[in-house]
Amino acid sequence: MNQGAASPSARAAAIAALVEQFGALDVDAPAPADSLPLALAPFGKEEVAEAISALLEGQLTMGPRVAAFERAWADYIGVQHAVAVNSGSSALLVMLAGLIELGRLQRGQRVIVPAVGWSTSLFSVAQAGLVPVLADVDPDSLGLEGDFDDPVLAVHLLGCPSRARSPLLLEDACGAHGAEVDGRRVGGRGAAGAFSFFFSHHISTVEGGAVTTDDAELADAMRSLRAHGWVRERSDKAALVAQHPEIDERFLFVSAGYNLRMPDLCGAFGVHQVRRLPGFLDRRRANHAAWCAQISALNLPLRVFPELPGTTHAAFAFPMVLDADSPLSRPQLCARLEARGISTRPISGANLARQPAFARLPAVELAGPLPVADAVHDRGLFVGQSHAFDERHGALLAEALAEAFRGA
Ligand SMILES: Cc1ncc(COP(=O)(O)O)c(C=O)c1O
Repeated sequence: MNQGAASPSARAAAIAALVEQFGALDVDAPAPADSLPLALAPFGKEEVAEAISALLEGQLTMGPRVAAFERAWADYIGVQHAVAVNSGSSALLVMLAGLIELGRLQRGQRVIVPAVGWSTSLFSVAQAGLVPVLADVDPDSLGLEGDFDDPVLAVHLLGCPSRARSPLLLEDACGAHGAEVDGRRVGGRGAAGAFSFFFSHHISTVEGGAVTTDDAELADAMRSLRAHGWVRERSDKAALVAQHPEIDERFLFVSAGYNLRMPDLCGAFGVHQVRRLPGFLDRRRANHAAWCAQISALNLPLRVFPELPGTTHAAFAFPMVLDADSPLSRPQLCARLEARGISTRPISGANLARQPAFARLPAVELAGPLPVADAVHDRGLFVGQSHAFDERHGALLAEALAEAFRGA
């Protein structure tokens, strides 16, 4: 029997046997404790086997695996709809473009954005034709806190949920999979939320993203916007087709859309990743709590960011901010940690108003002074966090920090 004629179960067994040979894909194996990389692969044998099946079936572009992933992700977040795209940045863009298309936001309208976030948290607002207004972040959550009258794009930075409230709350949950505020998962707290499934995140589709929402009209608008403006995947397709009998429904375009689709190869990863997330989160949160306690006990001139009351921290990465009178500067501390095999990064884009790209935004405002964002910019850093880390990695970090300051 040639390979093309193999039964689905024989083919699945052959793929499983092939993948089994790669012991390195044991996603639950603890990471070696002699270094602290920024991220470790969150996928295992099942994801790779599913992707090989997709390849062998010839199902590469957006199809049934993306649809299954969307259903599973919406259910996990606790909303009606998830619309998958090719990155978290694309998710932000289609979310905002969809809200504009429906008139829920108007071009030129002000949207509050935290001064500390990822670059595209800010850029997507400007790209959608809105006016970002940068507001300083809270020193304990590094996000927006409290009540706002204007629409808000709250960024849940490095897994710490922002408790911002607004009549139009939008969430950048790209690095906060499974974080909660008052028992509600982020991405389901407002009108819509954006997620990233880039390689280094809690779970990954290699590159990928999704928007979550309970708003059926918004979900339909985003299904068109992510795929050329096409009518194809909309729940209201029949009505729209009936309104335009003169146009071949196969090429009926109803939005001024983009092409930001998620390939089915990525969906193949996603369907298996969702069920791994609760276990990953337990380990990340346990590490976060233990590392915070261990490092606080050292009384070093820096602060860490323990989980806040009423929230569940998703522990995407482990941020620290040096005290203003620290004897070590941020670059000095980073160099000492890197020398011990501990990878470091600045806290995302830090103060986005100080990035050169800020000057390129066509319209942007500052809500006021940005002292916390400046502290993060000048003295903040993060190290990696992973489901594959444990107390040994916490000990490595604590020891390296203590040694760095002993020599200061
Ligand atoms: C808060 C935040 N927003 C947006 C993004 C962009 O996601 P992507 O890299 O998938 O475009 C990231 C990426 O890490 C992020 O952390």
